[in-house]
Amino acid sequence: MLKPVSFRYGKGQRMRQMELTSEAQGQIDMNVTIVYGTQRKSCTYNIAQSLVRNLGQAEIKEIFLPKDLPEFCVSCFKCFSDENASCTHDQYVQPLREKLVWADLIILTSPVYSFHVSGQMKVFLDHFANMWIVHRPEQNMFKKQGVVIATASGPVFGQTLKEMKDSLDFWGVSNTYKLGCAVMNTDWKNVDEKIKKAIEKKTKRIAQKICKKHRKITQKGSAHVSFRVRKWFEISRLMQKYGRFNPPDVAYWEQKGWTKKVKPWK
Ligand SMILES: Cc1cc2nc3c(=O)[nH]c(=O)nc-3n(C[C@H](O)[C@H](O)[C@H](O)COP(=O)(O)O)c2cc1C
Repeated sequence: MLKPVSFRYGKGQRMRQMELTSEAQGQIDMNVTIVYGTQRKSCTYNIAQSLVRNLGQAEIKEIFLPKDLPEFCVSCFKCFSDENASCTHDQYVQPLREKLVWADLIILTSPVYSFHVSGQMKVFLDHFANMWIVHRPEQNMFKKQGVVIATASGPVFGQTLKEMKDSLDFWGVSNTYKLGCAVMNTDWKNVDEKIKKAIEKKTKRIAQKICKKHRKITQKGSAHVSFRVRKWFEISRLMQKYGRFNPPDVAYWEQKGWTKKVKPWK
């Protein structure tokens, strides 16, 4: 369906131009940031690649963990208490944040490690806790889509998917798809062809839904935001308006007009 026509490699970034066949025509350009919960290019990596192959014309930025964020959160609390939400690890965190803000679609991936996300994915998510709705969410998150991908040897990916989806929901991402795969192996090249085909079918279906929604968001300039995100936005709005627990958060919400009637997804 899609034919790669050129690749360009840059620092932490890869651009893939896809030549559209008639089947894919009508799909529109999309910025995609993929976060890999390990540096191992095996099952999880290949499933993420299958998804983006089906997205049509996409510009892709990739984040590999732990390479791109090799430090644990040191609990300095600056991201919550500083007016400009700085971080002890800003040299790593700021470029990653830019990649997240730039994307129309954020894909978080992790193999299942002991029923949960990989340690390095947890470290990554911890570094963006101040971007949660209850603190200072990025305004344009509410017009983005998300996908979480987890692979496991057996059918035990539920908790891992939930852990990544929690962050996307609480960052305000309008809608997130879940893709869990029991690959019954530890190496992509040994995964049964039947399983690979079933996964390809799933990634195609999710890609179609994403493209359809992306087109709507682009045309309307607003997104249909999931119930969970809207619920937490409203809870946070009341917290900022009446609780006023953390002054930098309150100032941020007031400056955006969100404590009144303004909604970030409109
Ligand atoms: C440290 C570690 C812990 C793991 N824990 C589980 C587990 O709890 N359940 C499971 O089904 N597979 C577990 N696995 C297997 C991986 O989730 C599985 O092989 C996955 O598909 C590997 O993804 P990758 O090829 O992208 O690295 C574990 C693997 C490792 C290395």
